[in-house]
Amino acid sequence: MGFDMNSFMDEISQRKAFIEKCLEQYLGGEPKNPPVIHQAMYYAVMNGGKRLRPIMVLEGARIAGGSGETVIPAACAMEMIHCYSLVHDDLPAMDDDDLRRGKPTCHKVFGEANAILAGDALLTEAFALIADNALIEGIQPQDVVRVIRDIAGAAGSQGMIGGQVMDLEAEGKQADHDLSLLHSLKTSELFKASLRAGAILNKLDEAGIQSLTRYGHNFGLAFQITDDILDVSGDQNLLGKPVGSDEKNVRTTYISLIGLEGAKEKARQSVQACIDSLNSFGSEADFLRNLARFTLHRTA
Ligand code: IPE
Ligand code: IPE
Ligand code: MG
Ligand code: MG
Ligand code: MG
Repeated sequence: MGFDMNSFMDEISQRKAFIEKCLEQYLGGEPKNPPVIHQAMYYAVMNGGKRLRPIMVLEGARIAGGSGETVIPAACAMEMIHCYSLVHDDLPAMDDDDLRRGKPTCHKVFGEANAILAGDALLTEAFALIADNALIEGIQPQDVVRVIRDIAGAAGSQGMIGGQVMDLEAEGKQADHDLSLLHSLKTSELFKASLRAGAILNKLDEAGIQSLTRYGHNFGLAFQITDDILDVSGDQNLLGKPVGSDEKNVRTTYISLIGLEGAKEKARQSVQACIDSLNSFGSEADFLRNLARFTLHRTA
């Protein structure tokens, strides 16, 4: 099947606009006290971003035969968790970056203490929001409980945080096997949990959930490899974040391990693995197939 990048990007923009509107409803509105923390949270979320994780929550729901409307709280919650991870990732103690989504990083604007606390608050409020998904008609509370457990595992010390710790520890001494584990924890876990959340809340069968889980795993690998490639050869103006961050921080990436061409080949293999993961689905999974292909073409 051919891949028309332009029409796919139109599709992504529409879905992104829908998510933006939902996020604005949760995070905007009447000023709350204390003002500074809510301003920092708003700043950290309402600043662009591709919104891929909430798009995946909606897509998981759609593939399960449900509507995106049924999972809006969970979708927004996944973006809040992702944004918290970015705020903390940019802190001086971690990647020490000054630019995120084309704007000064949260700690540059609100100070380190408020950035740490804004991240903490986003993570905590995200779980309140997921719990609220039980209030939506047709959603079963026991499925929400399963999703909460799933997302907590994905974000926690054996998920995304575990990957971030491995990243900090890695410094130039990784083997291929460890780097794949690092990427899968640091990046795949949130993608996996996003797709699974939409699917579980809309009662997709277990075999389907397993297929989406494999897709999320491989998508995260492809996505982190291309993130690392863009960190070397991307355009900062398009990316909205600094290039050269990984070299500055002596991070181990596939580029440092097997070179740029090797990393590109690895990304292509991971995209193929994404597409293979969807073999049990028909055309209803075409959006996800294209989303995987998109990672190889992305500039941001
Ligand atoms: C950046 O994620 C962090 C990684 C896991 C590579 P995104 O590239 O999805 O960042 P935004 O949300 O679009 O800013
Ligand atoms: C992904 O890795 C970080 C998270 C899990 C938040 P990076 O450190 O490469 O992400 P960017 O490049 O700063 O977005
Ligand atoms: Mg990092
Ligand atoms: Mg970083
Ligand atoms: Mg990066």
